[in-house]
Amino acid sequence: MPTQMPSPAVAVILGAAGDLTKRKLLPALYNLAGSRLLPEQFAVVGLANREWSHDDFRQQLSRDIREYLPGEFDADRWDWLMKRLYFTRGDLQDPEAYQRLKSVLAEVDARHATGSSCLYYLATPPGFFAETVRQLSVAGLTEEGPDRWRRVVIEKPFGQDFASARALNQQLLECVQERQIYRIDHYLGKDTVQNILVFRFANGIFEPIWNRRYVDHVQITVAEQLGVEGRGKYYEGAGALRDMVPNHLFQLLSLTAMEPPVSLEADAVRDEKAKVLQAISAMANQDVLVHTVRGQYGEGTRPNGERVVAYRSETRVAPGSSTETYIALRLFVDNWRWAGVPFYLRTGKYMPRRATEVAIQFKQPPLRLFRDTPVDSVSPNVLVLRLQPNEGIALRFGAKVPVPAMKIGDVEMDFCYGDYFGETPSTGYETLLYDCMNGDATLFQRADHVEDAWRIVTPILDVWQALHPRDFPNYAPASWGPAAADELLRRDGREWRQPR
Ligand code: BG6
Repeated sequence: MPTQMPSPAVAVILGAAGDLTKRKLLPALYNLAGSRLLPEQFAVVGLANREWSHDDFRQQLSRDIREYLPGEFDADRWDWLMKRLYFTRGDLQDPEAYQRLKSVLAEVDARHATGSSCLYYLATPPGFFAETVRQLSVAGLTEEGPDRWRRVVIEKPFGQDFASARALNQQLLECVQERQIYRIDHYLGKDTVQNILVFRFANGIFEPIWNRRYVDHVQITVAEQLGVEGRGKYYEGAGALRDMVPNHLFQLLSLTAMEPPVSLEADAVRDEKAKVLQAISAMANQDVLVHTVRGQYGEGTRPNGERVVAYRSETRVAPGSSTETYIALRLFVDNWRWAGVPFYLRTGKYMPRRATEVAIQFKQPPLRLFRDTPVDSVSPNVLVLRLQPNEGIALRFGAKVPVPAMKIGDVEMDFCYGDYFGETPSTGYETLLYDCMNGDATLFQRADHVEDAWRIVTPILDVWQALHPRDFPNYAPASWGPAAADELLRRDGREWRQPR
């Protein structure tokens, strides 16, 4: 467990009546309090357009925490946090709201000695990010001092394409410094995702083979077992590519492909991650047609037997929608380490099972020594980093089957997180909030990461928008996506893994 105690501060949640607060932020703060990782001089101020008193807010959150906490509820722990909750009413576009916030902050500061340091968590729709930060800045709420920090936390999506992402960055940077902005990708709050760095750089045996000489290709899969779950309105404007690729999948890709940083300083790590994206060329139009596959689910049955409607019949989805719920693509990281090694990425809704994994497939041995024996072929070694569920790491290799003839079987060495470290219920936001309060930006995205990710993804969106898909819906729920996704690898003489 980390031991550095954050300095006194107030966490201000803008948009405190929404889902994010009750599902993630509140349980995360509660868990941090339980781990004694919040300072005594700490408070939370919620802002939302509700006629709530401080007490109403406390009562509302008391109900929410019992419903959404992953793990056991402890009354003492909650009491510690509840006594530190405050509320202020306001519309995010109304300058008056920020004046009221300012006076509540002054009271809270006087009562809890928080030193006027503030973490502003924008739990708002992304369309409000720029305006909210502008208003905070106009009200003088983002000014830092020698002993006082002010940080703004936002969560994806950061724009809709390259141009809008850049515009958002510019608008934010007119009001606050880059070092004050903490852009969350919740995948980086997952321990197993952070473990990719530990696995690679705290162990001597993997790094020497982690390159084009030994690696045949890499597969990154984020398969979801659920559909769009009532989020049709959001999803129609996003689609699987925007929703998952420039953020979560590119985070996994960057951590897998990056060079060792010179230190664990935030910018040393972030510089190396940035270089991975810089080494990926945006696809030309004709490459988009060949190296990407989009899919949309039709109606069907989930693995548990439940009947589900087609994406086009989901609430708030257009009947002829061409929004994709599945994407697969092939790309290259054109640098010294990875030249010529394909990275295949895929993500989709209503896959047969939930599975997030990075699979490194190694090249075959240089000589087919067993060719004159009953062994037809040997399977390649595969190292699988299982990020969720069944978190762990597995290495597949061939072993002699104990029979008189030469026969080789595939076996696995399998490490399961739970077996070694047990399971601590967490939301993933604990680490992110804790790091932000300590001013450690390692796990947060920089402006250049966001723009580079959109630079790679936008040409794909442009081609897709110009060419409406003719075959949607093209995959059934509980299948591994459209047939064209298999073809994407088959052309290269490869095939997708079936995650367990
Ligand atoms: C979110 C996407 O960012 O990530 C969702 O908007 C997706 O569509 C979710 O379901 C997946 O996150 P996790 O943590 O469940 O893998």
